[in-house]
Amino acid sequence: MPNVNFQGRDIISIEDFTQQEINYILDTSRSMEPIAKNGSDMLKRKILATLFFEPSTRTRLSFEAAMLKLGGNNIGFAEAEIASVKKGENLADTIRTVQNYADIIALRHPLEGAAKLAAEFSNVPIINAGTGAEEHPTQALIDLYTIRKEKGKIDGLKIAVIGDLRYGRTVHSLAYALAKYNVELTLISPETLKMRREVLNIIQTKIPVAEEPNLEKIIPQTDVLYVTRIQKERFPDAAEYAKVKGTYRIDLKTLKNAKKDLTILHPLPRIDEIVPEVDATPQARYFQQAWNGTVVRMALLALVLGATK
Ligand code: NCD
Repeated sequence: MPNVNFQGRDIISIEDFTQQEINYILDTSRSMEPIAKNGSDMLKRKILATLFFEPSTRTRLSFEAAMLKLGGNNIGFAEAEIASVKKGENLADTIRTVQNYADIIALRHPLEGAAKLAAEFSNVPIINAGTGAEEHPTQALIDLYTIRKEKGKIDGLKIAVIGDLRYGRTVHSLAYALAKYNVELTLISPETLKMRREVLNIIQTKIPVAEEPNLEKIIPQTDVLYVTRIQKERFPDAAEYAKVKGTYRIDLKTLKNAKKDLTILHPLPRIDEIVPEVDATPQARYFQQAWNGTVVRMALLALVLGATK
């Protein structure tokens, strides 16, 4: 039995977890694959509240599907417009209320620090389902799980991350997570959307990191290419967005010199950064990655609610 314990823990930042703990979550996720197909009563009578103050398709639905597949139930809202926040209720009061109705809360919020704040007021575990441009720890676990499933390992890989590294929360959590392994990381972005310095400063002390504007140059050596969309909604003004819109695009030409076993990932939603013709290539694994979202979230719910050790 490894020395890990997840029962009752909040999942706020990927930085709160050691590599050993992350590996344990990935192993538990793998054991959820058959249960995701056949169902289970592991979380019977448990209730997950999904409080989503920002749009979502995959994160909310896969959390809810994960709970249902484990025999539990879901409550919550996907539009803050219809909840009491619209009447002016603050987040702390919302959490203090919802904790009476649910065993665990998954929260998505436009403000950085919202999940941490919620955890301070909650007596049930809080899972950060995305806070502003800050972090999206469960997505990073899905990304690692997908990399391990596709490649059989994480250590030793050359990983390139392309896109909006400034406002993209998935890339912040992923960068912190990868820095716990032995990988080489290349960051590719328009000049104004470079990786947040506070993230870069931390990861650079742990793994080799290169900032490289030219994808073509590094594509032949790359094992995993992680693509993200430009986070239009987080730009302070439309003119800034217009300057970077459409500045990178993955198509069949981009992949011409890529490894045959390159793995292309994307947290989705995709806008125009991967053209649909790429979907049919064996390298495109982003819809498989979306399936993996269910098993990883099943593992997290089961571990935090103490249904599995
Ligand atoms: C991401 C998010 O919400 O940060 N979506 C997701 O959860 N898979 C990525 C994005 O919105 O670009």
